[in-house]
Amino acid sequence: MRSARVKRERRGGSRMPRPFVAVTFAMTADGKITTKKYTAVDFTSREDKAHLIRQRALGDAVLIGHSTLERDNVRLGIPREELRKERRARGQSEYPLRVIVSNAGRFTPALNIFQTDFAPILIFSTTRMPGPVQKQLREKATLHLSDSPEVDLCWMLQQLRCDYGVKYVACEGGPSLFRSLLELELVDQLNLTVAPLVFGGRMAPTLTGANFDFLPRSVRGSLRDMKVVGNECFLTYRFTRRRS
Ligand SMILES: NC(=O)c1ccc[n+]([C@@H]2O[C@H](COP(=O)([O-])OP(=O)(O)OC[C@H]3O[C@@H](n4cnc5c(N)ncnc54)[C@H](OP(=O)(O)O)[C@@H]3O)[C@@H](O)[C@H]2O)c1
Repeated sequence: MRSARVKRERRGGSRMPRPFVAVTFAMTADGKITTKKYTAVDFTSREDKAHLIRQRALGDAVLIGHSTLERDNVRLGIPREELRKERRARGQSEYPLRVIVSNAGRFTPALNIFQTDFAPILIFSTTRMPGPVQKQLREKATLHLSDSPEVDLCWMLQQLRCDYGVKYVACEGGPSLFRSLLELELVDQLNLTVAPLVFGGRMAPTLTGANFDFLPRSVRGSLRDMKVVGNECFLTYRFTRRRS
């Protein structure tokens, strides 16, 4: 009985409520999301960048993996006033909470995000985070550090729902975090932009990273929306939650 419950909870099937999770990515026509060196490559249009911000603006929280934060050095703001106005009209705060996940916690405190205070920053990590980093980040962010070697993503989402009132998470990857969320069946929607490029390269990561293993189970989505703007295709897939 107990092991069935633990398995169900690991797959995101616990009865504790969690937010809706929508993940946004852009990929090339051959399914690559960056180069093999994981450099911050700019391969999409202005329309796609505006699309990403619109998706972010829907969230009560925006969620990002540590590596993407370090590599892209994003602040996770909403530059357009009209989107912030729409949020206020929906009863949301002006900006989403900014949530970062990291197991090792080796953050660079000089990152742009830590120089801004327009929205709270929550970091879900472990007690492996080095002491001096903890000290510096406590001035800028709320730290949730667990004793276990890895962050329990299901628990994290439940905390966001129960303690912070987050009903909608706009996740901006990256691929390792997306894979972890998929493995736990914690993704409800995928917003995918297909850009008209082909990178090639066996080692360049796809949506689920450079991990060549199959997922424990294939995740089947249904296509909810498709728009073509210029040479890019904007797709929206929904994944249904499996009954446990
Ligand atoms: N094309 C796109 O739409 C798009 C979108 C996003 C990112 N990217 C690109 O993707 C690249 C980064 O890829 P990535 O896979 O390295 O990045 P990532 O998924 O953002 O970050 C991976 C890191 O996040 C933390 N993490 C992942 N799963 C976790 C879990 N279950 N629990 C706790 N922490 C977890 C770990 O941090 P620690 O190592 O600190 O433990 C892990 O090393 C960058 O080049 C970025 O530009 C592209």
